[in-house]
Amino acid sequence: MNLNGKEIVLGVTGGIAAYKSAEIVSRLRHLGAGVHVIMTRNATEFVSPLTFQTLSANPVVTDTFASPEYWNVEHVALAKLADLFVIAPATANILAKMTAGIADDMLSTTVLATRAPILVAPAMNTGMWTAKATRENMRILTERGVHRIGPDSGMLACGDEGAGRMSEPDEIVREIIRILHISRDLAGKRVLITAGATRERLDPVRFLTNDSSGKMGFALAEAARDRGAEVTVVCGNVSVPLPNGVRIIAIESALDLLDAMMAECPSNDIIIQAAAVADYRPEKVAETKIKKKSGEQIILKLVENPDIAKAVGERKAAGQTLVGFAAETDHVNENAQQKLRKKNLDMIVANDVTQKGAGFNSDTNIATLITAEGCIEEPLQSKRKLADSILDHILMLRQKSGSPSD
Ligand code: PMT
Repeated sequence: MNLNGKEIVLGVTGGIAAYKSAEIVSRLRHLGAGVHVIMTRNATEFVSPLTFQTLSANPVVTDTFASPEYWNVEHVALAKLADLFVIAPATANILAKMTAGIADDMLSTTVLATRAPILVAPAMNTGMWTAKATRENMRILTERGVHRIGPDSGMLACGDEGAGRMSEPDEIVREIIRILHISRDLAGKRVLITAGATRERLDPVRFLTNDSSGKMGFALAEAARDRGAEVTVVCGNVSVPLPNGVRIIAIESALDLLDAMMAECPSNDIIIQAAAVADYRPEKVAETKIKKKSGEQIILKLVENPDIAKAVGERKAAGQTLVGFAAETDHVNENAQQKLRKKNLDMIVANDVTQKGAGFNSDTNIATLITAEGCIEEPLQSKRKLADSILDHILMLRQKSGSPSD
């Protein structure tokens, strides 16, 4: 892994974690990147600019002696030069300035002017990190596409314990590498993803559903979006925020999902079905709340829902790649292989939902990618990493089948 030819602008703000940023500079230089450091006036109280100048082999920009003319040239030059803009540590103050578009020093001015991707590594006291203003600022920045790493939890310099410690330099460098290597290999592709759980109504206040949070489907949507695809998510009930920069079609039941998929499938190149769909629904939906009758049993009659993935598979067009998921508790690969064939899929992602760290509602997953040609085991990893792996394999399948414009 090298970063030859990449130019990284590192903003250092005033916090005790500033000393750790020296380590970031040396690691980036070691990987071949050019590093340009901008320090706020407060940061220079914690670490000498000379440290960063020596490690980066570039002049360090500070506000200490800056005249307005110097600002104009320098902030535009560094804003344009950056392949990635990193702020580590990022104080509550710089996050607030970035949110509001305040440009009152060299760092805030340059970060406002840049069009490069931005990564922030927040570091502050727990109270400041959990304050409503900071949460809201961070939410807005995330919505605008700013990447974030950390903060970690632990003992803080102020003696408090909790979230607020800057991530370790090697984690920050790993994230920098990940962001810089995000390729645009799905540019021009339309990707349709299902996510979350269906709800099958019993009456106006009750429904049958499952534990799907939407995390797996959203990880796929974000990964496809970051790789340049135009993404649509057909979204059932979820318990996490919706991803930005993708089109969302909200559905409730399996029948709604079927309608949405029939309308959307023809215009998409890649279709990934990660939603957990109810196989059955109540035969009748009561118009009013079902009343309790003490001492009496209620027997629900369920009817089969359509198999949507199968319906999509039957209508598969030339050049389309269809991927399903299989949530299994036993005979995982065997059951998944049957579903692959029955639903006419190109690939199925089998997850054994009984394993710790896999399946419903966790941030991680463990999966086997199954195609007609064989199985690839994916280890325990974040759903986002698995999503990128799934997309890599989809692209390989498309290349092999000679799909148009791949
Ligand atoms: O949302 P998370 O909390 O992150 O959890 C992720 C997940 C566990 C939901 C996901 O990884 C997963 O396994 N999704 C598929 C769940 C599922 O419904 O599996 P299945 O084996 O019952 O269905 C197989 C495939 O057919 C799936 O692609 C499913 O979307 C589809 N299906 C199922 C039933 C049905 N009536 N119509 C369908 O299209």
